Amino acid sequence: MNRIAIYPGSFDPPTRGHEDLIRRALTMVDRLIVAVAINPSKEPLFTVEQRLAMLAEVTDHDPRIEYASFHGLLADFARERDATIVVRGLRAVSDFEYEFQMAMMNRKLHGSLETVFLVPAVDLTYLSSSLVRTAARFGGNLDGLVHPSVAAALATRYGR
Ligand code: PNS
Repeated sequence: MNRIAIYPGSFDPPTRGHEDLIRRALTMVDRLIVAVAINPSKEPLFTVEQRLAMLAEVTDHDPRIEYASFHGLLADFARERDATIVVRGLRAVSDFEYEFQMAMMNRKLHGSLETVFLVPAVDLTYLSSSLVRTAARFGGNLDGLVHPSVAAALATRYGR
């Protein structure tokens, strides 16, 4: 059986939490599409190309991973790529409501698409890309929170 899963997100930037989720997902599927969602109503810190390059770097260009981006609905992208599983991380109860709604909506749009929630390592449960951006903007220490290549990209982006 060729199990294809999609791990969608903004990844702006990828954190150690994302890396942890990717590692866990790879123990369960044959191929993982790590997909950067293009959201025209958001002003990202990094371009889609930069985020894809960072994702490839932090996962050592793993041959089981496809690094992709998509416009529009995740359900349509999953159909296009024959993916049957969506992987999302659940860090805390506060994530649940949004994730639950999204999973239900995705099921409505694509009846055979299953959402699987993975829990990150406990020391990464508070981590988010937005907290990382804020800490980086003001020169905070990002050790253990992002891959060194991402820390370097943040430092360049914020002119440090
Ligand atoms: O990392 P994020 O920002 O929490 O990821 C959210 C993402 C990109 C997975 C979600 O917004 C998404 O799937 N966007 C594409 C549009 C879509 O299909 N939305 C859900 C059903 S309406």
